[in-house]
Amino acid sequence: MKVLGIMGSPRIKGNTDLLLDEALKGAQSQGAEVEKIVVDKLKIAPCREYYGCLRDGNCVIRDDMDDIYPKLLEADGIIVASPMFFYGLTSQVKALIDRCQALWARKYILKQHLPDSGRNGAFIAVGATRGKKLFDGSILTVKYFFQSIGVKYVDELLVRGVDKRGEIEQHPSALSDAFELGRRLAQK
Ligand SMILES: Cc1cc2nc3c(=O)[nH]c(=O)nc-3n(C[C@H](O)[C@H](O)[C@H](O)COP(=O)(O)O)c2cc1C
Repeated sequence: MKVLGIMGSPRIKGNTDLLLDEALKGAQSQGAEVEKIVVDKLKIAPCREYYGCLRDGNCVIRDDMDDIYPKLLEADGIIVASPMFFYGLTSQVKALIDRCQALWARKYILKQHLPDSGRNGAFIAVGATRGKKLFDGSILTVKYFFQSIGVKYVDELLVRGVDKRGEIEQHPSALSDAFELGRRLAQK
C-alpha cells in the first residue's frame, strides 16, 4: 500500500504541511509506504493547451511532472493538501492538477485503462476564515481531479479559522483528525 501526499502550500511547516505530515504518519501506522511531494519545490509549468496529450496521453512539456505522473498512477492512496488561496487551491497544486489533463486524455479520449480499481483519495484543506462555502470550489476541483486519474474521493478534513504559520498546533482536534484520516485511507 503506497500513499502519496501532495503538499500544496508554499509554507514549509505551515498548517497544511503539519496536517499532511500527521495524515502520512497515520497511514504509516497501518504499514503503508508513504511519500510527500512538496509541489512548491518542483518545476511544474502551468498547462499551455498544446494538446499533444490528445494524441498519445503524454504532455509535451518536459519538467518535474515527468516524475509525478508515474507516482500518481502507482499510488494506492492520494492525499491532496492545500491552504485556501482566494477560495481555491494554491496555484502550485492547481498547476499540477491541470497538467493531469494528459491523464484525463488517456482515460476519456484515448479510452486507455487507468489503474482505477480500489484507489482512494482524500482532501485536506485549511483556511483563515470561517465562511460556509470556503472549501466548496476546491472540493469540486479535487473530486474531478481524482476522477480523471481513476481515484475515488473518500475522505476530507477541512479546517477553518487557522491563519498563522503553525497555528494548527493550537487547534483542539485537527492534528489528530489528520492522523485518523491517514489511518482510514491506509485501511481501505
Ligand atoms: C494569497 C493568499 C490568499 C488567501 N486566501 C484565503 C481565502 O480566500 N480564504 C481564507 O479563509 N484564507 C485565505 N488565506 C489564508 C490561508 O488560507 C491561511 O493563512 C492558511 O492557514 C495558510 O496555510 P499554510 O500555513 O498551510 O500555508 C489566504 C492566504 C494567502 C497567502
